[in-house]
Amino acid sequence: MSASLNRHLALVGFMGAGKTSLGQAVAERIGRRFVDVDAAVTDDAAAFFREHGEAAFRRREEEVTVRELGAEPAAVLSLGGGAVTSAAAREALREHATTVLVDVDVDTAWERVRGGDRPLAQDEGDFRRLYEARAPLYREVADAVARDADDAVLAAAGVRVETGALELLGSLVPGQGPVALVTDARVAGIHGAAAQVALGARVASTHEAPPGEEAKSVATAERLWRELSLERGGTVVALGGGCTTDVAGFVAATYLRGVAWVPVPTTLLAQVDAAIGGKTALNLPEGKNLVGAFHWPVRTLVDPALLGTLPQRERREGMAEVVKTGLLGGEPLWELPDPELVRRSAAFKAGVCLADPFDRGPRAALNLGHTFAHALEAGSGGAVSHGQAVALGLLAALRLSGLETGIVEGILHPRPVRADPERAWAALRRDKKVSSGRVRLVLLEAPGRPIVGAELPEADVRAALDALIAG
Ligand SMILES: NC(=O)c1ccc[n+]([C@@H]2O[C@H](COP(=O)([O-])OP(=O)(O)OC[C@H]3O[C@@H](n4cnc5c(N)ncnc54)[C@H](O)[C@@H]3O)[C@@H](O)[C@H]2O)c1
Repeated sequence: MSASLNRHLALVGFMGAGKTSLGQAVAERIGRRFVDVDAAVTDDAAAFFREHGEAAFRRREEEVTVRELGAEPAAVLSLGGGAVTSAAAREALREHATTVLVDVDVDTAWERVRGGDRPLAQDEGDFRRLYEARAPLYREVADAVARDADDAVLAAAGVRVETGALELLGSLVPGQGPVALVTDARVAGIHGAAAQVALGARVASTHEAPPGEEAKSVATAERLWRELSLERGGTVVALGGGCTTDVAGFVAATYLRGVAWVPVPTTLLAQVDAAIGGKTALNLPEGKNLVGAFHWPVRTLVDPALLGTLPQRERREGMAEVVKTGLLGGEPLWELPDPELVRRSAAFKAGVCLADPFDRGPRAALNLGHTFAHALEAGSGGAVSHGQAVALGLLAALRLSGLETGIVEGILHPRPVRADPERAWAALRRDKKVSSGRVRLVLLEAPGRPIVGAELPEADVRAALDALIAG
């Protein structure tokens, strides 16, 4: 199933799977209403079964499920365990929802529900037989399986994190139509052949983008527009780092007024940040990311195994965003092994972006440390890498928040950089549109508790910026 911002996220699964609590947590994270469809059928299933029987219950469940799936705006829905036995409900799921199976093994489910008043959980043998009978129906409707809220958020965003996903591209790129494969020229020599083999006969054309920021030029975009021969039903697949996904996504957003696209990010930065959230961009000589479009991918395929060939220098660029994410979420994500580090970090960004797809509010929290970073990049004429600049920006944000800086120092080792302090300060003031002597920044009350728009005296911010500059 393709991702779409206006599809429901429907949670299905057996009794005792934890659909309701997971659904509430996910709804809060992605800023949607939560609908407990099971509770909307009846507030006392046991009494309903006694008075009207199971068949009447199923009819009512079908009616409520189909009604809620047809309602707008998109919500998080937790369905009753038996809802999927209705063909009409299954059809409504296909039409209106990204469906996620909240998986539970039968022993755990039984332990959770035994001794309660659920009518279908009175006898252990019957319970186990019902579990076996329902399992294929859940698999049939599910677009993804979730162990936790991160998995469900990723599914809602259309993001699939799976080691080995590159080899499965042919089946994981939604639809059957032709694919234009846009690859970073360096990555093409490392992973391009595997991508082409996996896509097989679906590859209609292949295109290379220069490595690095040169990819994000109007000239590269124009070349790609002119090389493409896709029809509206085709898909652009972008294999590379954030520069490749930005240009290919922008080309997909604009070619034929918009065709489907699937980023397959190959750098840590792109896996946890650039390829998540639907923003695409080009640079102009006047500045970075000045031209762009919001164009949510139909799916994002993240294969952490691709990081195996990433140079350390590029890995550090991504780690700065992982540390930022961990500080915003209040969890030491940087301690996790790669597949988990990527999954958790990508899920954090996906959740924030789903709550604010067009960057009108909560997404601003993702700018933690970035005001200083942009200032240092401008003040050094681009000599300071984005990752280095973000590491220093995080240091400044923690200092101004009155918090310990040990995590940032221990993991990212930021060192003051050479930059023109006046140019850096001018860039920061322009960026923040300083008014009445105060600057608005993203700070932290504590790890996990961001403050968006914290106002500080200009002099304090200037001092924090100067402390990041060598000399
Ligand atoms: N759209 C967004 O929301 C968003 C968010 C953050 C950053 N970005 C953009 O992302 C860009 C930076 O992305 P990046 O850091 O991924 O840089 P990048 O795309 O330039 O890749 C970095 C380098 O790594 C090489 N490389 C990539 N994958 C590799 C692999 N698996 N093995 C070996 N080498 C590999 C590339 O050839 C390149 O030289 C910036 O332009 C930034 O503006 C966009």
